[in-house]
Amino acid sequence: MCGIVGILGTKPVAADIVDALRRLEYRGYDSAGIATLENGKIGRRRAPGKLRNLEDRLRESPLDGLAGIGHTRWATHGAPTEGNAHPHMVGDVVIVHNGIIENFAELKQELIADGATFETQTDTEVVAQLVARARAGGMSPREAVRTTLARLEGAFALAIMFRDEPDLLIGARKGAPLAVGHGEGQMFIGSDAMALAPFTNRITYLEDGDWVALTRRSMELYDVEGRQTVRPMSFSQVSSNLVDKGNHRHFMAKEIAEQPEVVGHTLAEYVDFAERKIRLPDKLRFDFAKLDRLTITACGTAAYAGLVAKYWFERFARLPVEVDIASEFRYREAPLPKNGLAIVISQSGETADTLAALRYCKSQGQHTLAIVNVPESTIAREAEIVFRTYAGPEIGVASTKAFTCQLTVLACLAIGAARQRGAISAEKENELVSALVEAPRHMAEILKQEKHVADIAKQISHARDVLFLGRGINYPIALEGALKLKEISYIHAEGYAAGELKHGPIALIDETVPVIVIAPRDELYEKTVSNMEEVAARGGRIVLLTEADAAGAAHDRFERISIPHANPFISPLLYAVPVQLLAYHAAVIIGTDVDQPRNLAKSVTVE
Ligand code: AGP
Repeated sequence: MCGIVGILGTKPVAADIVDALRRLEYRGYDSAGIATLENGKIGRRRAPGKLRNLEDRLRESPLDGLAGIGHTRWATHGAPTEGNAHPHMVGDVVIVHNGIIENFAELKQELIADGATFETQTDTEVVAQLVARARAGGMSPREAVRTTLARLEGAFALAIMFRDEPDLLIGARKGAPLAVGHGEGQMFIGSDAMALAPFTNRITYLEDGDWVALTRRSMELYDVEGRQTVRPMSFSQVSSNLVDKGNHRHFMAKEIAEQPEVVGHTLAEYVDFAERKIRLPDKLRFDFAKLDRLTITACGTAAYAGLVAKYWFERFARLPVEVDIASEFRYREAPLPKNGLAIVISQSGETADTLAALRYCKSQGQHTLAIVNVPESTIAREAEIVFRTYAGPEIGVASTKAFTCQLTVLACLAIGAARQRGAISAEKENELVSALVEAPRHMAEILKQEKHVADIAKQISHARDVLFLGRGINYPIALEGALKLKEISYIHAEGYAAGELKHGPIALIDETVPVIVIAPRDELYEKTVSNMEEVAARGGRIVLLTEADAAGAAHDRFERISIPHANPFISPLLYAVPVQLLAYHAAVIIGTDVDQPRNLAKSVTVE
């Protein structure tokens, strides 16, 4: 996802803009650029690849100027070249953009027919051309932007400057986040509070359809109807300390290692450790006992957390649950019950499909509860209730600690729901909570096997295909393990319900296909072991994840990763760790960009 920064400053802004862009790197990008206004001129530097390439350009040819905009681009239209990098400039207008202008092709045709010549393949240039044409027609900068915004379809955030307006910065938001930072005689614009943290903690979040005209001492904010309006200014808690890797080689390694700690932080929010009970925040504006159905929707890894939660809510709270990926759910017009709750799960809180699914659920009169890691995100601000994960900033594109913290919140919710519905006894709640509070300690134990897991990862790093098998609440962990491996090592991997093996996938098995079997000692263990034997009988190379003393794991064809014995209820939290480590170490061996894998973005704010 692209990153946007803009500064109306009182000193040269180029270095600050680059620093702010560095805080947006986690979103994923493949080129970067900056433009500043100086003595009535627009200066622009752009570079493909990482920010260091842009810094090299700026060292070769510095930019002064007390106003500027910067951008990290995740290519949607046009290759990640310098020419396609933002900012884009047409005449006196210079612009950066995050998102997709869905009707850019017809607008481009209209502009070309009108005599415009285009320099790039991007949808963004269409916006700059429209604003420039309106300005050439005599409109003021504000009017030129207002009329342009009315023509645009799609999801976007924009920051715009004008060569002849050194004290004006215009921002617009429709479907992609944008925030205003209030300084002392300075104003800032950024994709999120993290980008603005070094400058200010006084933040105004634009709402969908808003646009804003900033000077160093003023802010005019207009809503989607074009009426001048005000939005609250909040005080961001985002730390201004740039998140760093500590003594880890990659953010992903650090974030895997942090899981015992951050799962503990998250438990502390929802568990009464002394009473061994769930402490549901009193912000719940509904009674689980009155709910007919629970809908859970999310994307990617977050959707797998939702799939685990289905088993927990149905088994313990006796509450029917439907889980669907948000990109499908948002369009299928699912009939939802009168007394329904919808839970959306999103680390970033900005995922377009998940946000759209949330809005659908609200339109259908559902109670909505968002589980997010970014409390100031759009999804957090639009949901009725927010349950935070306390994972801390997750920088690696592949989600790890956010996932196990999502599982933690969902486990607490499921137990709380079971209690409210009278579906479990106080003793059962005590048993489940006691198991849950042991999860951090068990995760720490598993992390001590990292070297052993890395050795196994070395063996699978040569594979072309890898299968992950799991049953019950660990079937989603098989899906998650496959996603982790494929998204950071680029090895093709698939997760399957172990019981499905015979219905097709077993045709894939031969000695070239490693099979990762997730098999805690639960009621399904023997069934999974027999699936495993089917694989072994066909020469499959098995990596068995199970408890150390588990029978059936002695077979000489197995590599085994031993998981501490624990209540099966918490097994998804535990078995997530080895599959994360397998993916991480396979990627390190292969040499991919572990923290920013190719083609991926940390938060997908476009469809
Ligand atoms: C996670 O490893 C993936 N990078 C991706 O599937 C991610 O989980 C998905 O895009 C959802 O993101 P969100 O949690 O920020 O909504």
